[in-house]
Amino acid sequence: MALKITVIGTGYLGATHAAAMAELGFEVLGLDVVPEKIEKLRRGEVPMYEPGLEELLHKHVAGIEGSSGRLRFTMDWAEAGEFGDIHFVCVNTPQRHGEYACDMSYVDSAIASLAPHLKGPALVVGKSTVPVGSADRLAAYLAEHAPAGADVELAWNPEFLREGFAVEDTLHPDRLVVGVRGERAEKLLREVYATPVAEGSPFVVTDFATAELVKTSANSFLATKISFINAMAEVCEAADGDVAKLAEAIGYDDRIGKKFLRAGIGFGGGCLPKDIRAFMARAGELGADQALTFLREIDSINMRQRGRMVELTRQELGGGAFLGKRVAVLGATFKPDSDDVRDSPALNVAGQIHLQGGQVTVYDPKGMDNARSLFPTLGYADSALEAVRGADVVLHLTEWREFRELDAQALGEAAAQRLILDGRNALDPEVWRKAGWRYRGMGRPTA
Ligand code: UDX
Repeated sequence: MALKITVIGTGYLGATHAAAMAELGFEVLGLDVVPEKIEKLRRGEVPMYEPGLEELLHKHVAGIEGSSGRLRFTMDWAEAGEFGDIHFVCVNTPQRHGEYACDMSYVDSAIASLAPHLKGPALVVGKSTVPVGSADRLAAYLAEHAPAGADVELAWNPEFLREGFAVEDTLHPDRLVVGVRGERAEKLLREVYATPVAEGSPFVVTDFATAELVKTSANSFLATKISFINAMAEVCEAADGDVAKLAEAIGYDDRIGKKFLRAGIGFGGGCLPKDIRAFMARAGELGADQALTFLREIDSINMRQRGRMVELTRQELGGGAFLGKRVAVLGATFKPDSDDVRDSPALNVAGQIHLQGGQVTVYDPKGMDNARSLFPTLGYADSALEAVRGADVVLHLTEWREFRELDAQALGEAAAQRLILDGRNALDPEVWRKAGWRYRGMGRPTA
């Protein structure tokens, strides 16, 4: 009989995972404790912008015309406990307020709510990003509190999906990592992921600690790559070099690689910043803090880029105060193809200039609602053209395709001054210069 799967937590990770499991042919029950989320999902609506996810939900959510009916949603823990052979825990682990460490309360409460309802054999699979050692602790908790006792196993299966590519990354992962203690857990997970494995996704079996560490070390490596190139951008600024050319040239060495070497205002979002901080905090608890002190530098290089963008803007506007200056900001989300503004470098820069007296008007293709609720005092416009109207400077802060395709001539006619600063080094300087703009990238003073 086909495996039955529950997915606990229906945010970016969980909603995508649930839909993907249904797509792979399993019967799936998604659980969340927020009623509005469940109501939306039952109608096939996605609580965030994620390309392809709404279509996948419509294909599988029970009650939607023409769907497979394999995907349902509930708020009832007893129903979930009864239903699943496998329970995926996909709740988030945000940064703890005022601390570097991550907040494990959602994971802990999910396990505590599920445990009493595990009355028969089941596999609980953690996907959330957690401090190393958590799986060990949670396995002990389950052994003590699940009525089925030793018939309930735990596994850790970190998730590497990128926002904007969540569906693709979940259905066609570049690798699957499973931390297990027993053969039964491994066998069940091989069954769950049989399709992607048959298509070539490597399946790496580890112990609990290694599986947990794979996730935090992968994100630390990615953060390090970005901060490395941003550090080079700072040197290029000082030495009249061009960081984009530099990145291209070092990237041809395939030990280095071209990816994740885009210099600019740095990384943000719900993962990289908080994950490297939680990793440092955990290493400290383990007495291995020295090993990760470099991440402190990675974090500060990253945060510095936001300030550098503000200073570059000030300098290009003549060096004085922002008071009375009109600043158009293109982009609010932390990256394109997402509506996520969590720890967004773009909004941070917009906010800093606004707080220093600049008149900031923001436009973003998908992030307007989230940006408005996080930063209600900024100005917002309904299009790039409206944001740019009357502006003394235009800041390009999130590299949406829409911005690369803008009509530089038409924008030039709307702006008070043709000055564009590219915080993502993603626009074509030639296009803008031809239309009479002064173009300035980050780490490319001469480009
Ligand atoms: C990241 C990891 O990539 C993913 O594997 C993990 O599961 C979750 O965290 P995500 O947060 O969706 O995914 O974004 P990602 O594409 O990694 O970008 C993170 C940030 O880095 C963005 O703000 C992006 O603009 C920035 N970035 C990325 C750069 O500044 N330069 C680059 O070269 C690449």
